[in-house]
Amino acid sequence: MPNDSLTVTDNRTGKNYELEVKNGTISAMELRQIKISDDDFGLMSYDPAYKNTASTESRITFIDGAKGILRYRGYPIEQLAEQSSFLEVSYLLQNGELPSRRQLEEFTHNITYHTMVHENIRELIDAFRYDAHPMGILLSTVGAMSTFYPDARDIESAENRRLQSYRLIAKMPTLAAYAYRHRRGLPYVYPDNDLSYAGNFLNMLFCMTERRYTPNPVVEKALDVLFILHADHEQNCSASAMRAVGSSHVDPFSSLAAATAALYGPLHGGANEAVIRMLNEIGSKSKIPEFIRRAKEGESRLMGFGHRVYKNYDPRAQVIKKLAYQVFDAVGKNPLIDLALELERIALEDEYFVKRKLYPNVDFYSGLIYQSMGLPMDLFPVIFAIGRTPGWLSQWEEMLTDPAQKIARPRQVYLGEGERKYVPVSER
Ligand code: CMC
Repeated sequence: MPNDSLTVTDNRTGKNYELEVKNGTISAMELRQIKISDDDFGLMSYDPAYKNTASTESRITFIDGAKGILRYRGYPIEQLAEQSSFLEVSYLLQNGELPSRRQLEEFTHNITYHTMVHENIRELIDAFRYDAHPMGILLSTVGAMSTFYPDARDIESAENRRLQSYRLIAKMPTLAAYAYRHRRGLPYVYPDNDLSYAGNFLNMLFCMTERRYTPNPVVEKALDVLFILHADHEQNCSASAMRAVGSSHVDPFSSLAAATAALYGPLHGGANEAVIRMLNEIGSKSKIPEFIRRAKEGESRLMGFGHRVYKNYDPRAQVIKKLAYQVFDAVGKNPLIDLALELERIALEDEYFVKRKLYPNVDFYSGLIYQSMGLPMDLFPVIFAIGRTPGWLSQWEEMLTDPAQKIARPRQVYLGEGERKYVPVSER
């Protein structure tokens, strides 16, 4: 009997089965052979919310949740945040290796070349109500872009997939900025391709009457780092949405709209917005114990705390905490930081949070930085979406080129009614 196997005894039949253990997993399909009779469907695994199910093999992002480690293609997030740039990281995620100087220039050129969006998109954005949430605008307009680029449907061609990836990475900031300007009733600002990726985004958000917008270099750098920190996070809710929807072979704009929708939820990308609301609600340090009590009793949640995978300090939160002070030095301190620090201190000493291994996650401090940059709360998840775009695209590419993947189609355990006869409404 090989060592890398699992012997299972089915106590219903007394039969033994040997299942191969590969990369710390057993294949769920192998369970199918375990039957009590010939017409039995075979055993399935039951795993709501995929808490212990690997849906794919992947070579993109590594997370060790217990140790608080995050690496893209093997490179520690701390090193990338300190030394790399968002476009270099985007290249790395998509191609598996860091680019040469020439490759990076070419990639940067390709992204920059595609930053404009069709004028009809502006009109589409105009049709939204004045107070429309920018995340709603973003996911709608990303989806709408599939109608502007029907060529994107050719998902079989690697070259075509690459072109659509350039378009998406390039246009997400433009759509996001337009959504923001619409909300503010301000004229849209066209991309300035002489600026960096982050610098141009700031230009499209904040340029007023000046002839040429010059971004604050500290804010520009901080935003680039924030994009890096959000660029991928393996099989989370939105990446899984990207893969699941993409597995139907729909175009990447439609898949990315689904991923953006997943990110919109308060338990995912909406948490940074929720953190600021929570801090405002708490209001002062004296109210923290009462808030902690309510969180422990399940009346509310300590937003920005806890993570499905990290059972340690989220390494992104460590980087962001440091980054926050650089931004505060440049643009002024966010007064909520003192409240956040105190909340963190109290929670990390509280048995409830310690026992459950609930630590600050990426969203705990990111909102404070965005707020200091002058960004409104509802734009926070939009920034997350811009940063996550290369990650979603890399996950999509990996899914499409993986021969083991098929259209995503989970099974269910049906516990509903058995067959019953329809009763006309007049007889009910
Ligand atoms: N505040 C209070 N209690 C919590 C919290 C929290 N933030 N998070 C988890 N718990 C408790 C939960 O009540 C449960 O307790 P018990 O075992 O007594 O029932 C235990 O901890 C385990 O929680 P869970 O809900 O089973 O954990 P999960 O893995 O399903 O949820 C989470 C992960 C991120 C959804 C959750 O921790 C949460 O809601 N956090 C607040 C929202 C948040 O900050 N989200 C951002 C996630 S990071 C960015 C991203 O990936 O998008």
